[in-house]
Amino acid sequence: MLREPSRNAEAGRLSTKSFPIRGRSDVVTVSSHAGRLARELGLDARRAMELAIVVSELASNIVKHGVRGEIVLTFDDHWPPQGEITVEAHDVGPPIRDLALAMIDGNDDQGPIDPALILRRGGLGTGLGAVARLADRVEYRDEEDGSKTITARFHRR
Ligand SMILES: Nc1ncnc2c1ncn2[C@@H]1O[C@H](COP(=O)(O)OP(=O)(O)O)[C@@H](O)[C@H]1O
Ligand SMILES: [Mg+2]
Repeated sequence: MLREPSRNAEAGRLSTKSFPIRGRSDVVTVSSHAGRLARELGLDARRAMELAIVVSELASNIVKHGVRGEIVLTFDDHWPPQGEITVEAHDVGPPIRDLALAMIDGNDDQGPIDPALILRRGGLGTGLGAVARLADRVEYRDEEDGSKTITARFHRR
């Protein structure tokens, strides 16, 4: 699963791990892996847990809304002070129509979620809000082939 480390002029040695996401068990696998990785890189227990939550929310969104995809974790083995862990969530599902709206707790990508539907839909509409609060930066990209990528950048705090 570990790809060849690549060279990056600013960050030094980068490693990449990618995890296919097709079902609920993949969500657990990738989020626990991310939490362990963060601890190995020297993040404190709280920040490592926050990374695991971000990964879990992005991966569960792939299962719920994105059909199938993958999570790619990129990190600097030496985790310098300015280092970052990048979480790329890539999936083949429909685009997010309005990301700013979808990031507000209680909303999907079209507006407020009907409270009557919350139990049935399995989610409060707070996942992307949590990602926005816990990650240092979030980017969204519609790919030319119709897929999309959400990138969350994660620093030491
Ligand atoms: N991977 C995705 N593909 C398509 N739409 C998504 C994706 N992730 C999030 N969304 C949209 O953003 C909304 C908010 O996501 P989130 O805050 O995680 O809430 P929830 O998953 O409970 O609906 C979703 O309801 C959905 O409309
Ligand atoms: Mg969600």
